[in-house]
Amino acid sequence: MPPLRLKSGNVHVWVVDLESAPATPGILSPSELARAGRFRFAKDRRGFIASHAALRQILAAYTDLHPASLDFMTLPHGKPALVSGGLQFNLSHSGELAVVALAAGCELGVDIERLRAQVEMEAIARRFFSPSETEALLAYPEPERAPAFFRCWTRKEAYVKAIGGGLTISLSSFVVSLEPARAELLSGVEAPWTLHSLDVHPSYCAALAVACNPAEISLRRWLPR
Ligand SMILES: CC(C)(COP(=O)(O)OP(=O)(O)OC[C@H]1O[C@@H](n2cnc3c(N)ncnc32)[C@H](O)[C@@H]1OP(=O)(O)O)[C@@H](O)C(=O)NCCC(=O)NCCS
Repeated sequence: MPPLRLKSGNVHVWVVDLESAPATPGILSPSELARAGRFRFAKDRRGFIASHAALRQILAAYTDLHPASLDFMTLPHGKPALVSGGLQFNLSHSGELAVVALAAGCELGVDIERLRAQVEMEAIARRFFSPSETEALLAYPEPERAPAFFRCWTRKEAYVKAIGGGLTISLSSFVVSLEPARAELLSGVEAPWTLHSLDVHPSYCAALAVACNPAEISLRRWLPR
């Protein structure tokens, strides 16, 4: 495969179908394999291996390194990063899909969730969302409420993942838009952060937060190899 290149100011987002992606444990590190071994269900274990194998292959294609020889470190609140190479990335998985977002010289976070209606939306919103987000959510009529809930959830998670704060960040300390057309950080966040919706699949909701205003966000399908 020819090497992949990423211009500064651009973001590439790869969508991985975990059902067809090969679960190649041979390129995973001992700690990834140990984590894989802790999954109770074979399907979850396979999904974890396939997403980490795809992540390594994608990063290898940009860095000209072998997928097994990539070195990762963990930032203070758990965010994984490459030890060298000047490439920022973030991974998210849900159901049968994973997304890997990459940028050069600009921090970012991505979140994907499979749309599902059987979720205690109001209770979760009252616990984690800001009052204005909860009010906006409850104003949606029933059939539109679940997509609005997951837009809010993924937009908030993408930002939390981008800043790498993990569970130390109060999810109600900042406000995102819920509208389908425009993903926005409405308050509680300073520039240069920008938020973007990712149209990955009709049954999923995904969002990207970036510490710049990207010139281009290109969505690509990762083909099994
Ligand atoms: C771990 C967390 C970063 C995201 O978890 P998640 O949404 O369940 O999982 P995702 O699939 O989107 O992301 C997991 C990946 O993010 C990366 N990641 C792990 N910790 C991270 C951190 N602190 N910051 C950014 N990325 C992180 C890893 O690559 C991880 O993949 P792995 O578990 O296969 O190694 C964390 O923010 C979390 O647990 N959030 C839940 C908060 C919550 O209660 N939200 C309520 C709804 S708004």
